[in-house]
Amino acid sequence: MCGIIGMASKHEFGSNDIIKMLKRLEYRGYDSFGIVTDKGMMEKEVGEIKPVKENRCSMALAHCRWATHGGVTRENAHPHTDCTGNIFLVHNGIISNYQELKNKLVGHKFTSETDTEVIAHFFEESLKTNDIKSSVLEFFRIAQGEFAIVMMLKGDKNLYALKRGSPLSLGLLDDGNVLASDIYAFSDKTEKAIFFNEDEFAIMNKDGYEFYKFLDNMLKPVSKEITVVKWSGTEEKNHFDHYMIKEINEEPEVAERLINSLRTEQKPGLEKLKELIQGAKRIVFVASGSSYHAALLGVYFLNKAGVEAHAVIASEFRNFYLVDDKTLLIAVSQSGETMDVIEALHGMKAKGAKIASLVNVPYSTIQRMSNVSINIEAGQEICVAATKSFVNQVVALTYLASVFGYEKDFSKIPDEIRDVFSQEGKIKQLAKSLKGEKDIYIIGRGYLYPVAREIALKIKEISYIHAEGMMGGELKHGTLALIEEGTPVIALIDNKPEIISNVMEIKARGGRIIAVTNRDDERFQESIRISAHNKFPFSIEASIAGQLLTYYIAKEKGLPIDKVRNLAKSVTVK
Ligand code: AGP
Ligand code: GLU
Repeated sequence: MCGIIGMASKHEFGSNDIIKMLKRLEYRGYDSFGIVTDKGMMEKEVGEIKPVKENRCSMALAHCRWATHGGVTRENAHPHTDCTGNIFLVHNGIISNYQELKNKLVGHKFTSETDTEVIAHFFEESLKTNDIKSSVLEFFRIAQGEFAIVMMLKGDKNLYALKRGSPLSLGLLDDGNVLASDIYAFSDKTEKAIFFNEDEFAIMNKDGYEFYKFLDNMLKPVSKEITVVKWSGTEEKNHFDHYMIKEINEEPEVAERLINSLRTEQKPGLEKLKELIQGAKRIVFVASGSSYHAALLGVYFLNKAGVEAHAVIASEFRNFYLVDDKTLLIAVSQSGETMDVIEALHGMKAKGAKIASLVNVPYSTIQRMSNVSINIEAGQEICVAATKSFVNQVVALTYLASVFGYEKDFSKIPDEIRDVFSQEGKIKQLAKSLKGEKDIYIIGRGYLYPVAREIALKIKEISYIHAEGMMGGELKHGTLALIEEGTPVIALIDNKPEIISNVMEIKARGGRIIAVTNRDDERFQESIRISAHNKFPFSIEASIAGQLLTYYIAKEKGLPIDKVRNLAKSVTVK
């Protein structure tokens, strides 16, 4: 889940220019970082990316890490090198057979616990008797797992890049070239990009590049298409304390932008998706985390409109066997790079399945794998927590259901969202009273069940409080045993009488009910009032109330919020 960069330029540049680019990839991993230049400077540090010693150079590699193999230490941070110190490389992914490869590298001295270091020693050994292309060919043959690797050899003018599984792109600059995990890294420098496909190898230097494809056990030269990307660059936090609250505040505006685009420029895409749905025997959403919760809501809305659909968690998709040429897979992903989702989609086209997607990051791998892709138009989301992207996923899925007859007045959505902010003061007070809690339960029924799960996920990842989101009806089948005097339960209450019964059951056992509801009811002493009309679901508003509550609890606790421990925004490993 790391971010990698490799740059070669006709003009000298500073090591901190690379660090600035790396900072744009920080969402991919932020436990440690490192840089090496062709002028012999190497620095690695544990913690957030920060300026390094200035070093003028014409080639450099940099990396921000989200550890998979080996703890978060300086030794395990990339770049990694071989025994001679002539090979430097950065890697995103997992070499799953690294132990087997390591066992064969007899006599080599390893200084880290990573799978990545094995790659450096592999090339050290192979380059003793082979040229670089033969060594790369051999690596493609024997390496298992995923990798985006950029490698620099001492005294050599080229950078060498290999891709299998993990994303990699090349930015064409006026005075050189840059390799990066994604186009965010160089979006302020160039609009011209080339995306690596599976099993591709590139030799790149300040003057140009060559691409090869590992196919039929050979490296075959390939010509690549240059994509002109439109990208607005990394956004600033403005006057907000954190990206999370800035992004929540953008929700009315980005929802409006999405609705407008679905009505205009994305209309043909939506039509195509409609046709794919109509022509499919089976419709299966595939997603992870918050995107999975949005997909569950999509299932609800489509079912309500008479369209049968199901949602499968991407990491469990391998246990779903019913994919054939009549299946439509709809991937839902903010980043468009989540490895579990990509893995789930892989090979499905070969089975004849059609692939559609709802993504936020344009040109992402999932978008490029899709027969049709709807852009959810949320704009760059920097906080680890999905907030505005989740809202827009739900808006897009509701809109999709409306194509099949689901009723919703879309012009009202931005104001319905704005309305939730009228509860901000109350939410802040609630946050104060919840900050010391160890467990919070959230219950909902019907469309409010995925929302309950989504709120629980937010509370766990950002506020570091154990939270469980569940179906109101399931409580009495076990979890009720955990309700004691004062246990907080957030109840998402619409017009279903059954949820009131569940609330009463909790109250009878001393539980503390915090209602998120569109009803006035004196039995709810503590409540966040949603102004939605009784007739319509308020999944979006309830989720936003949960996002705000999460934010203010985390703020009360003084937590890092935008970059919480152990996580990364884009999960590009299995
Ligand atoms: C949400 O707050 C999480 N950070 C996480 O669950 C996220 O939704 C998940 O990793 C999926 O990411 P994607 O939407 O980019 O595929
Ligand atoms: N496996 C490598 C490591 O642990 C890279 C991790 C990643 O890409 O997330 O350092």
